[in-house]
Amino acid sequence: MKAIILTAAGSTANLNHTELPLPSIKENEVLVKLTAISINPIDVKARANEGVLNWVFGDERPVILGWDISGEVTETGGQVSDFKIGDEVFGMVNFFGHGKAYAEYVAVPADQLSLKPGTISHQEAAAATLAALTAWQVLVNQARISKGQRVLIHAASGGVGHYAVQIAKHFGAFVIGTSSAANRDFVLSLGADEHIDYTSVRFEEVLSEVDFVLDTIEGETLTRSIAVVKPGGTIISIPTGNFDQSDLDKAKDHQVNLLGYLVQSSGTDMKLLADLLEKGILKSHVSQSFDFKDMDKAHQAVETGKTKGKIVVTLNTPSLSGDN
Ligand SMILES: NC(=O)c1ccc[n+]([C@@H]2O[C@H](COP(=O)([O-])OP(=O)(O)OC[C@H]3O[C@@H](n4cnc5c(N)ncnc54)[C@H](OP(=O)(O)O)[C@@H]3O)[C@@H](O)[C@H]2O)c1
Repeated sequence: MKAIILTAAGSTANLNHTELPLPSIKENEVLVKLTAISINPIDVKARANEGVLNWVFGDERPVILGWDISGEVTETGGQVSDFKIGDEVFGMVNFFGHGKAYAEYVAVPADQLSLKPGTISHQEAAAATLAALTAWQVLVNQARISKGQRVLIHAASGGVGHYAVQIAKHFGAFVIGTSSAANRDFVLSLGADEHIDYTSVRFEEVLSEVDFVLDTIEGETLTRSIAVVKPGGTIISIPTGNFDQSDLDKAKDHQVNLLGYLVQSSGTDMKLLADLLEKGILKSHVSQSFDFKDMDKAHQAVETGKTKGKIVVTLNTPSLSGDN
């Protein structure tokens, strides 16, 4: 099968296209023939930065990057009862760990998958995995956001953010989203009640009494976010979760809970997302789609930090149906 291996961190030239044998599956796994893969900032960070590559994979080399998949089951392990050959499935494979999604076939623990709704394309499904799971697990499982809460989503136009806005609105929150002016209409179209252009407005000068902040940026964006949160409120910061002591002190002074979070593979959460996707309550915005042979271009696009919605890579299927 076609696959892309990485032997050392570096430029996109290090993404080596090769041929590998089909993966063998364990009793609890299914073999999935991929139609689409989505690309995340973590893919780019691990490819470009040896420290991140070591953090994720230890000293295992070469590695196969990628975690976000949508495709068709071609084989099932003996213990698998939820899925059968021919089922269309999507999910995030073995995160935090070795997902091996940059390939034509991937072995996936069945409990990390959901059936793909028939109403959405494989591209839209692959998009709604790591980024959507992050938004769901942070807002719903961790923060337990509720009706009427004021929620600030940084980078509301990005992969995590565009799902987070929709999920927070679904739970009845009042949502404020940040992005540049170029993505203002997009963020409002997702359901945000207010938009703040981070390039021209200092959000802390126009916002207060926020219950929850999803910080996707860290650095000074995180520092400045602390002041807008009401006492007892919470910030979950996802880029690294490593906090400066000064931010921890400031959060304590303001009685703000400052936490990190790392997304985890979960078929249970994938099924909840699938239900929202099927009903059209949650939508993937796929802004760019690249062919598998152009993985380097997909990485370069994500690396700009300007992704609108999600960027996906496709295998065997040329069309992007239902993109909005
Ligand atoms: N801990 C975890 O489990 C976890 C999970 C997922 C992601 N992450 C991390 O979370 C971060 C975000 O991921 P993502 O996939 O959402 O990234 P992304 O899709 O690459 O985000 C791109 C978006 O960020 C916006 N943006 C850039 N700078 C901004 C700023 N200063 N203020 C507001 N918006 C800004 C851009 O909008 P404009 O083009 O309008 O500027 C763009 O739409 C990454 O660091 C990623 O590694 C962590």
